[in-house]
Amino acid sequence: MSRVYNPSDYVVEKSRIKSLNKYKEMHAKSLEDPEAFWSEIASEFYWQTPHQAGKFVSYNFDINKGNIFVKWMEGAVTNVCFNLLDRNVRNGYGDKIAYYWEGNCPEDYSRVTYRKLMDLVCQFANALRDSGVGKGDRVSIYMPMILETIVCMLACARIGAVHSVVFAGFSSDSLAERMSDCKAKVLVTSDGAWRGSKLLELKKICDEALDKAKDKYNHTVDMCIVVSHLARVTPCGNLPDDIKSLYKWNEDRDMWWHEMIEGQSTICPPEWMDAEDPLFMLYTSGSTGKPKGVLHTTAGFLLYATATFRYVFDYRDKDIFWCTADVGWITGHSYVVYAPLANAATSVMFEGTPFYPDNDRYWSLVEKYRVTQFYTAPTAIRALTKFGDDYVKKHNLKTLRVLGSVGEPINPEAWLWYYSLIGNNRCSIVDTFWQTETGGHVLTSLPGATPMKPGAAGYPFFGVHPILLDDNGKEVEGPGEGYLVFSRPWPGIMRTLFGDHDRYEKVYFSKFPGYYCTGDGAKRDEDGFLWVTGRIDDMLNVSGHLMSTAEVEGVLTEDPRVSEAAVVSKPHPVKGESLYCFVILNDGAKFDSDLVDCLKRRVRQRIGAFAAPDVIQYAPGLPKTRSGKIMRRILRKIALGDHDIGDTSTLADPSIVDELFKNRP
Ligand code: WT7
Repeated sequence: MSRVYNPSDYVVEKSRIKSLNKYKEMHAKSLEDPEAFWSEIASEFYWQTPHQAGKFVSYNFDINKGNIFVKWMEGAVTNVCFNLLDRNVRNGYGDKIAYYWEGNCPEDYSRVTYRKLMDLVCQFANALRDSGVGKGDRVSIYMPMILETIVCMLACARIGAVHSVVFAGFSSDSLAERMSDCKAKVLVTSDGAWRGSKLLELKKICDEALDKAKDKYNHTVDMCIVVSHLARVTPCGNLPDDIKSLYKWNEDRDMWWHEMIEGQSTICPPEWMDAEDPLFMLYTSGSTGKPKGVLHTTAGFLLYATATFRYVFDYRDKDIFWCTADVGWITGHSYVVYAPLANAATSVMFEGTPFYPDNDRYWSLVEKYRVTQFYTAPTAIRALTKFGDDYVKKHNLKTLRVLGSVGEPINPEAWLWYYSLIGNNRCSIVDTFWQTETGGHVLTSLPGATPMKPGAAGYPFFGVHPILLDDNGKEVEGPGEGYLVFSRPWPGIMRTLFGDHDRYEKVYFSKFPGYYCTGDGAKRDEDGFLWVTGRIDDMLNVSGHLMSTAEVEGVLTEDPRVSEAAVVSKPHPVKGESLYCFVILNDGAKFDSDLVDCLKRRVRQRIGAFAAPDVIQYAPGLPKTRSGKIMRRILRKIALGDHDIGDTSTLADPSIVDELFKNRP
């Protein structure tokens, strides 16, 4: 039994919901009468047309009854950007700071108010419109953590274009595939950026990706818009005298951001959007390899981002919120961009890394900006615990009230370090479980309201009804373990996979008809806490980055020397999981350090640096069932060096197991 931590008086005093009973009462009401709960949030926003009576929510989660669909506030017409900016300016927040921007180098920082942000967004939105970008067009974004990234996303929302942000740690191959899949009209990037002392040559990667999109997928992106960023920030490493030598410039295709907005008006009428019109799409890894373009729509996403931010972080008017996630992931979409602005919040946006110029960067920024809510990932926490407590102790972290965790289960040691050292034994920790697909938090603690257990995600958010199913699809009542599924939608759940509704139905709704299947396992303990136990499909979670075994295996077998590959996850003290790869070679190929380096490099290049394998092992064969299915369970044991492998009788050739143990590097 793990210890229960109750919210401290310090947190309770300031929180909106002050007891578990109050939370339970609100949660029950949100399920009984979703319209009552969500229309209260909706009433804060501007609607050009209200939703149709009796059509607040409609859905079908049962593929046996027809197509899967989810609709919230059907008939309503609004614009998300207008609600985030114009509405707040009109409500008197024009001079409030929307973002403190902190560059990679501590000397580079700036701030932007709500009014200024609105002006910048309108100018860029006008520039996009002038270039022929309009409602429904896709805009790919491959950017560092700079204000223009937010401006660009909101400008798209303003004119009804669908942004597709690709994390700027992805390779040119990944970017090409994503731009081509959504048939992007425009790509927006910057010349480059610094991450620590490393220079990211973003425009160069985009040049390669644009070529590959054409050659490999026959897709031409009309325009590439480039922010001139490197010249305005302090160089943190070697930079050529002529920055322009870092990339090619294609006069027919490339445009400078600053030239495009020159002379543009700061007035830009928003495109009025239907509640279910797309707001954005974001790719996430699929277990069969090809990335899935998760699509979120207008009204539902707005409601859900707004409500989760308000209750989960208990944000108050004078608070300073900081989510360290990159805008390239859903966490950045929801909790760097949309949710804070919808709540007229002030946030910190940070371009750099926790380790530059020194390992106390995060804590120095909490102190500098007087951060009240801090939201990061377990992998970052584990990495920072390594450096000892002195880096933390030299900073004043007294402003903190709520500490968030996201991306993977947080191990109790990291939780306790976060709680005691960063949170001074008095902050609430919210371990937020959610997915790109869910749009916002679905399981979490609530500050002031719910007790906490280290490693438990806690309780469902309002409007969310989690269910655990056993292998036969039977609901597990009370304490127990099973597949984590949902039988009804909340406003922020994705609506489809871009261009592939069949795959959407197949991946998420076919395993258990009537339920949305998360792909995670979970258990419910005696006290009603939910614990997420991790992915039950062939997915890996390395430092919070989700990828599929099939995706990595596909890259490994591209090498002509490799005939077959099997990838499993091995627990890692900092990254959570790491990649352990088994490769079978073609006749005549040699297994040596050159091959290992080559394969590691290939994965980095094809997917991204975060996917680099830790181990490549030579395999004379793989443990397969007679039907040919690889038994990954056994490979995971071999990766661990754990000989307790259980039953091998279903293997076609059990002797292979011993050989693999002998071959461990
Ligand atoms: C997968 C979703 C949504 C934020 C970033 C990742 C795992 C996420 C937690 C948590 C345990 C977690 C799950 C989930 N996950 N948060 N608090 N506790 N597991 O988004 O790339 O769509 O990944 O991340 O396995 O399915 P994503």
